[in-house]
Formats: sequence, C-alpha cells, structure tokens
Amino acid sequence: MEFDRVVTGRHSVREFSERSISHSKLRQIVKLAQWAPSWVNSQPWKVYIATGKHLEDIKAMFQQKDAAHTKSNPDLAVMSRTQWNERTQANMKKWRHDIVAHFSTFDEAHSKMTRAMNTLNSAAAIAYITIPTQTPDWSILDSGAFAQTLMLAAKDLGIDSIPTYNSVRFPDEIRSILGIPTTERLMVGIELGYATNSHINHYRSDRVPVDEILKIED
Ligand SMILES: Cc1cc2nc3c(=O)[nH]c(=O)nc-3n(C[C@H](O)[C@H](O)[C@H](O)COP(=O)(O)O)c2cc1C
Repeated sequence: MEFDRVVTGRHSVREFSERSISHSKLRQIVKLAQWAPSWVNSQPWKVYIATGKHLEDIKAMFQQKDAAHTKSNPDLAVMSRTQWNERTQANMKKWRHDIVAHFSTFDEAHSKMTRAMNTLNSAAAIAYITIPTQTPDWSILDSGAFAQTLMLAAKDLGIDSIPTYNSVRFPDEIRSILGIPTTERLMVGIELGYATNSHINHYRSDRVPVDEILKIED
C-alpha cells in the first residue's frame, strides 16, 4: 500500500469480525514495529499478544469487573478531562460531539460505545505493550512510536486496529493472565482484527488545520 494510504487509512475500529489473524502476520507486524526509534536504542518495549483462550479469559475478566463496577487501576495515571489544557480539551469535546452526531441520538452513541468497550470491540487479538517499571519517561515516548509503527504495519497487511486505555484498566489481572512480570508496566493494548461493516466503524475522526499546530521559523 502507498505510505499516505496506510497513514490515513488507519483509524480506530470499534467492532471487529470473528476472523482470526495468523501467528505469522502477528509476528510480521511486531518485527516491523521493532524498527521504531528509541533512546540510545534501548528498545524498552515488550509485546504480549493475547488470542484464543487467553483473550477469552481477558474478556471474561472485564465483564466481571464491569458488572461489579470495579474501579479501574491503570499503570499510567488518568487525568480528569477538566484538568487538561484548554486546546486539548476543545479537541476532545469536538470528538465527543462528532461521535454523537454520527449516531441518531446521544443514547444510541452512548450504548454503542459502551457495548464496544465492554466487549473489547470483539478484537481477534490484543497486543499489550509494556516497558520496564525502571525506566525514564522517555521510554513512554519510545513505546508510543512502537505502537504507531505496529498499527501502520498492521494496516499495510489489511489488519485493523484500535489502541485502547480501556484494555489496560486492570493491569494486575492482565499480568496474571498473560504471565507478565510485575517489573513491567502496561502502556496500552492494541486491539487487532478485521473491521465489520458496522455503522460504528464508518466514523472518522478529523484533525485540526495544520497551521494550528505548526510553526516553521526561518
Ligand atoms: C493511548 C490511547 C488510548 C485510547 N483509548 C481508547 C479507548 O479506551 N477507547 C476508545 O474507544 N478509543 C481509544 N483510543 C482511540 C482514540 O479515541 C482515537 O485514536 C482518536 O479518537 C483518533 O481517532 P483515529 O484513531 O480513528 O484516528 C485511544 C487512543 C490512544 C492513542
């Protein structure tokens, strides 16, 4: 695929079909993601991919936690939206407004998004990206570059994705199911699969005009 088609074609998919992804494709996208840059080539990331029985266990664990209204406990702190800077708050507000407009009513948008969240978007696989607990903030930046490279590599193979905070809300349980040591922090879960033709997947987020974020100084 041409590079700009890969970049603009990647978007967050919130309903995956039952089609599985072969292990060889999963290996291929992780091998490509390894070419992401990192501080002094420290390559702080590791990837744990859940499929099959392990993924079912994770989905069941989420259903239990959500039914019991268990409080989320992610390894990275979450900040209330009102504490974010004004510019980023405005972007988040627009995203929420656009999602609601994509559906007929607020209630429909809310129920579809909640269902997507509760089922982990019916992902065929989830790639959990970790970094060691003993690392500087720079490694978080490195793992972001790794995550985006992984999603672009997936898109190039026709595999859809969504990075989610949702999938790392209960890191201790994920570590236990996937055998991840407590010396590793869960950064993000990248849900992978093939998009269904559902209305929810037709939504496309937009971006602010480039001049709002770019300044070139000669
Ligand atoms: C770190 C991170 C966490 C995210 N967590 C969620 C999530 O929990 N649920 C969700 O529906 N989308 C989540 N997203 C997807 C964003 O909403 C999405 O990337 C953004 O709206 C831009 O849309 P696009 O990915 O389709 O370009 C997350 C994205 C990132 C980068």
